Amino acid sequence: MKKVIAIYPGSFDPPTNGHLDLIERGSKIFDELIVAILRNADKSPLFSLSERRVMLEAMTENFKNVRVDTFDGLTVDYAVSVKARAVLRGIRAISDYEYELQMALMNRKLQPDLETVFMMPAEQYSYLSSRLVREVGQLGGSVKGLVPEMVEQRLREKLDPAIKLEHAREPQARKRG
Ligand code: PNS
Repeated sequence: MKKVIAIYPGSFDPPTNGHLDLIERGSKIFDELIVAILRNADKSPLFSLSERRVMLEAMTENFKNVRVDTFDGLTVDYAVSVKARAVLRGIRAISDYEYELQMALMNRKLQPDLETVFMMPAEQYSYLSSRLVREVGQLGGSVKGLVPEMVEQRLREKLDPAIKLEHAREPQARKRG
């Protein structure tokens, strides 16, 4: 039988444990899962595209049938270009449903052969979103347990002015040293 390739598109700014949970679930039912980061979704994301890619690659390195990619334009066009037959999306609560339904039906209109598959993340992530992680991080709250440790660390580095300053000084220090 032909292998089933699925894409998991999103902004992933930053990737969370909810995303990871869904990737793990998706990797169990699809032969190949491509985590596809949308380029230019937000003109000023907190994390650059390459930072998000590096984080997602590290998070998924143990899943042998998962790879990370980036895309521009319509999700359905990208799906066709990688021969995907399904789009994986997570639904956390009923509030996600309306937007996700609209997107799934529009994608079906554009590309009738492509199926959207919804999966539910573990309950402990049902309130979790990248937007809330950014907001809590920006306001100095803890996001421990909500994002992988590496993302937590990168969030701290990005948002803590003292660490930022340290990094800014490093090249100078290296030049002198
Ligand atoms: O993580 P997000 O921000 O909820 O992901 C949304 C995403 C990237 C899946 C959606 O914005 C998308 O598919 N954008 C690509 C452009 C597109 O195809 N638009 C029509 C969708 S019906």
